[in-house]
Amino acid sequence: MTVHLERRGDIAIVTIDNPPVNAINNRVRERLIALAEALDADDGVKAVVLTGAGTHFVGGADITEFDKAVTEPSLPAVVARIEQAAKPWLAAIHGAALGGGLELALGCHIRVVGPHAALALPEVKLGIIPGSGGTQRLPRLIGAETAVKMVCENLTLDAKTAVAVGLADHLADGPLLDAAIDLAVQTGERPLPEPACRRSVAPPAQEVWEEAQARIERRARGASAPATALGVLRHGIEHGFAEGLRHERETFLKLRAGEEAAALRYLFFAERAAPRPPDLRSVETRPLASAGIVGGGTMGVGIAAALCNAGLPVVLIERDQESLARGLNALRTIVQTAAKKAGQPLSIAETRLAGVTGATDYAFLSHCDLVIEAVFEDLAVKRAVFADLCSHCRADAILATNTSYIDPGLIAEGLSFPHRFLGLHFFSPAQVMRLLEIVPIAETSREVLATAFDLARRLGKVPVRSGICDGFIGNRILRRYRAEAEAMILDGVEPQAIDAAMRDFGYAMGPFEMQDMAGLDISYLHRQAARARGETVPETPGDLLVQAGRKGQKTGAGWYDYAPGERMPRPSAEARRIIAPLVHGALEISAEAIVDRLIAALAEEGKAILDEGIAAFPADIDLVEVHGYGFPRFRGGPMFLTARAQVSQADGAMSPVEAKASHPTA
Ligand code: NAI
Repeated sequence: MTVHLERRGDIAIVTIDNPPVNAINNRVRERLIALAEALDADDGVKAVVLTGAGTHFVGGADITEFDKAVTEPSLPAVVARIEQAAKPWLAAIHGAALGGGLELALGCHIRVVGPHAALALPEVKLGIIPGSGGTQRLPRLIGAETAVKMVCENLTLDAKTAVAVGLADHLADGPLLDAAIDLAVQTGERPLPEPACRRSVAPPAQEVWEEAQARIERRARGASAPATALGVLRHGIEHGFAEGLRHERETFLKLRAGEEAAALRYLFFAERAAPRPPDLRSVETRPLASAGIVGGGTMGVGIAAALCNAGLPVVLIERDQESLARGLNALRTIVQTAAKKAGQPLSIAETRLAGVTGATDYAFLSHCDLVIEAVFEDLAVKRAVFADLCSHCRADAILATNTSYIDPGLIAEGLSFPHRFLGLHFFSPAQVMRLLEIVPIAETSREVLATAFDLARRLGKVPVRSGICDGFIGNRILRRYRAEAEAMILDGVEPQAIDAAMRDFGYAMGPFEMQDMAGLDISYLHRQAARARGETVPETPGDLLVQAGRKGQKTGAGWYDYAPGERMPRPSAEARRIIAPLVHGALEISAEAIVDRLIAALAEEGKAILDEGIAAFPADIDLVEVHGYGFPRFRGGPMFLTARAQVSQADGAMSPVEAKASHPTA
């Protein structure tokens, strides 16, 4: 049974029990409607307490139903039935009341929250809007401006704030259910609060709407649901509750069937599945209670911060005192900034930093369960580090390299413990970027591999397993992307046209702006090294720019010109002149065709990577692109997009459930 009924005297207690998060599916809806009918007809019942089993109220509507036709009773019908019930319904909210869960609570006459309640309407993250009255009841309870933040900008309210703004009526200071029952017993003694549907809401001034719209569109970076949600919220405030509800449902159903929602659902399932690959589910993981990092540069410090923020004590090793002091300072700044950004008191950052030990002596790593190497990208340097680790670390410690390009198998060559060695490829800045490529070598044990996935989960990262090839999954695809963009330059397309097309598609930056920001010299040095090894690497426009001293923003010039102290790229006649000897065409191409050509290149390289067994599932490629390389989330990823386009060309679009099959772990 997904919904239980019990009695405490004349109070009925309705408990939604659908593990793990009490998601509302068709069975739950049917049962709630039936119970509302039955309890209204039951003279022995005075009031109803609605709650959730386990640690949450209700985590939302069941997303797996979103790919199917809507079945009756719909959630709006359930919410309306509860709101219109003859008996008062009280929502007793502990833990999460999200999306449809909160909408259900909004239909109740009284909301009681426990101290750990978290209330939110996160639908826009899935490319939809609340479809069961959330956009209409919420502003009538808490005012338009806070409602806009919750509906369009993912604001989550804690218990105290929920009471302060009027979303909840009562904060329980003892056991939640007892508090709700007490209130239910008293319901006859005083009038019930006016239901949300009958309340009025003060319309904000025009400037407030305009400001909100500009802010929401800027942050949404091309995704349409947040601004659509704003429009729906406003429509209801300006045209009344009934019309608002009608418009909300119509818009919800349209978005639910749309591409953006399909892409975001697909990613939702892929992200949920990523930390638990099917072949490792039954494998025991090792406890990780402390970690060491060797190398306190850009990556080492970022990785240390990620570990620190997850509450793991960290030992940071550098080669000398000066480098160590620099690394520890940088780490301090990052952890403090992260706490500040999260609105946490400085004491939290200090507690985390108290778990950090800095040293130049590897002996400090002797107790660590895991050590991650992040020293210079040089095989000999890395091998020397692991030889040292061999003699200082525990015999069962997991040892990992953060190399970007070197074959981890070569780094581990000659080590006596290859079964506890693997690549953990973090992305910069490591405390922020969610992608973690996990790169086992042939000898890595399954237990060590499973523990790496577990670590990713603890760090809040999105892990993707990669086989070994030059650049692993992400950097290999990036190289192909850049090569295709440069091929267009040789065809005569201007970098600013390519960058603008990719920005319009949803990237924060185009490929040439990105190269200017990162510096053109690193890949130039890679190409030069390959040439020095005797490999044939054709001359590229990037070579000519670097040779002319144009290394990107840091030299004030790259693909673009930069005014002193500015980062705004300006089209450059000089750059055009320098690369002219390599340009052999004058291609006229639309922005759409530019995007198609670059996405096709991403997807082709992704397919090659799958065919070679470097990645296991198309969704892994998409997770890498979305979480490591700025692919616009609301478009799903190059593999998703290409598969959708192929299927819709053939006969109608692939549903996210079908797309999900491309990631059988979901
Ligand atoms: P970095 O040059 O900023 O830092 C390297 C640090 O290692 C320096 O602080 C150096 O003093 C220290 N170091 C060198 N030898 C050492 C030794 N024997 N013992 C202790 N410390 C030693 O380099 P970065 O960028 O942090 O890169 C580190 C590794 O991470 C490289 O393998 C790189 O390919 C990889 N990586 C870099 C990314 C990036 O965006 N920078 C992204 C992902 C991986």
